[in-house]
Amino acid sequence: MSLLKDKVAIITGAARGIGQAIALKFAEQGAHIAFTYVSDSSKENAETLTEQLKAYGVQAKAWQSNAADYAAAESFVTQVVETFGKVDICVNNAGISKDNLLLRLTPDQWQSVIDTNLNSIYNITKQVIRPMMKAKSGSIINMSSVVGMSGNAGQSSYAASKAGIIGFTKSIAQELGSRNIRCNAIAPGFIETDMTHYLKDNPAGEAYLKSIPLGRFGKAEEIANTALFLGSELSSYISGQVISACGGMHM
Ligand code: NAI
Repeated sequence: MSLLKDKVAIITGAARGIGQAIALKFAEQGAHIAFTYVSDSSKENAETLTEQLKAYGVQAKAWQSNAADYAAAESFVTQVVETFGKVDICVNNAGISKDNLLLRLTPDQWQSVIDTNLNSIYNITKQVIRPMMKAKSGSIINMSSVVGMSGNAGQSSYAASKAGIIGFTKSIAQELGSRNIRCNAIAPGFIETDMTHYLKDNPAGEAYLKSIPLGRFGKAEEIANTALFLGSELSSYISGQVISACGGMHM
């Protein structure tokens, strides 16, 4: 099965975690992959991933590019189009959390989460819609979170950024549906990655676990499967939606 044969996919923040799983899943299904990483410490991971992706017989290239920086996002997408000729799928995955109760949350913490999680989505999406409009086709997938719908004490900046993504997603679906461009969001629950590593063997993690009907945290590959569905023609009549992949939890 090659659900994404010869599609070109952009994935931000793919050197590890959910982004990496999406890149591998998309390559396995025949997509050429353009992905970003931000820090020097991710360079080695990015190089290894590039080789793993190419082993599927697709083209793959990594860019060190900060999705929160408008000019960098513009330059990145321009280079992707020069290199690959088009953009069929864009996964806005890059994200960070800086959890703190509001009383202690500093302006810098607030701003960096909003810049990385929400402004990045404006920065990248604004660039990819040009080639997509030209091709009269595209699928944009934004990584939200269940916390964007429920809120969570100690995560006001993260929840605000993830809720903002949902409003953005629904608006872009309405703006660009007539151009055959779909835009959806995924709202993962708790997924085992570096971002949630602190929950392992921690009372907060145990409490969250009890709120998940499936009785376990999710795996990055399970989010990648959801992204594959939204990126492929399997979801050709789905736009403006938020798909929760959270083991049935409600917070
Ligand atoms: P992670 O921390 O393992 O990976 C995030 C990736 O984004 C890293 O590779 C990081 O270098 C990259 N990144 C951070 N800032 C960036 C920037 N400015 N430009 C480009 N890349 C940047 O986290 P994980 O768990 O893989 O998360 C991926 C996405 O899924 C994030 O948006 C996160 O908020 C979201 N998510 C994760 C959940 C979880 O339980 N792990 C739950 C709900 C949503």
